[in-house]
Amino acid sequence: MGRLSGKVAIITGAAQGMGEAHAKAFVEAGAKVILTDVNEKDGQALADSLGENAMFIKHDVRDGAVWKAVVEQGEAKFGTINVLVNNAGIIGTIAHTVDFTQAEYQLVCDINQLGTYLGMQAVIPSMIKAGGGSIVNISSIAGMIACMGSPNLAYVGSKFAVRGMTKQVAAEYGPNNVRCNSVHPGYILTPMMVAATDENGGGAGDMIPLKRLAAPKEVSQLVMFLASEESSFITGMEHVIDGGMTAC
Ligand SMILES: NC(=O)c1ccc[n+]([C@@H]2O[C@H](COP(=O)([O-])OP(=O)(O)OC[C@H]3O[C@@H](n4cnc5c(N)ncnc54)[C@H](O)[C@@H]3O)[C@@H](O)[C@H]2O)c1
Repeated sequence: MGRLSGKVAIITGAAQGMGEAHAKAFVEAGAKVILTDVNEKDGQALADSLGENAMFIKHDVRDGAVWKAVVEQGEAKFGTINVLVNNAGIIGTIAHTVDFTQAEYQLVCDINQLGTYLGMQAVIPSMIKAGGGSIVNISSIAGMIACMGSPNLAYVGSKFAVRGMTKQVAAEYGPNNVRCNSVHPGYILTPMMVAATDENGGGAGDMIPLKRLAAPKEVSQLVMFLASEESSFITGMEHVIDGGMTAC
């Protein structure tokens, strides 16, 4: 019996980076996983490589109608959904607050914040049918503190919003046995991080007590814990995974 046996999970942004690592770890731990992403080529190839307990659906998290279809197709193949990992996200423009355009601001909010809301709205009824579930919303340390070196008001705002929405859903749906937690990664070596900095995270390791960036699968361990029954009395909380960075 795997750690996630009996779990049916939707993971967004699963074609690469942390989403990819979570999807692999979840299937290995016995879950059935619906991977979604706008990147159809890599998402489909990953799902194919994971075998019969994985399926891919092309999906932009901003699209509420497709969210409904994701839940319906996932339920039809694997049964009611009891785990949702709202992972898809973008950094967007790095610029000082007065230099943002409204369109740049809106894009980040639509994917990181609205996408997370639409996901919870679509999946909670399936979780209630299932007798409960666990939602893991991927925020960031930028949902705990400001970004000093690389200013990004939209990213910080959207990731703080994810943290707040998490608490609201935990409060509202706790009586339905639906738990909801946020995860706040620091510097993790994914394509997003390499694109925004370089393979060393732009020297970010110097600011981290553990003196290194994390591999995506280290975050998967925390996400799996929150998705599993091991965390059965934990809800509404933020879980920071940053090598000690925000401790100092
Ligand atoms: N890498 C880090 O250091 C770091 C730190 C803190 C938080 N995060 C957060 O972790 C999550 C995953 O980040 P990552 O580093 O793996 O990023 P990544 O860019 O490597 O992967 C993100 C995935 O999301 C998909 N995606 C983007 N927009 C989408 C949309 N509208 N609909 C559906 N899918 C979409 C992309 O195609 C990609 O596959 C994000 O929410 C990010 O904000 C990352």
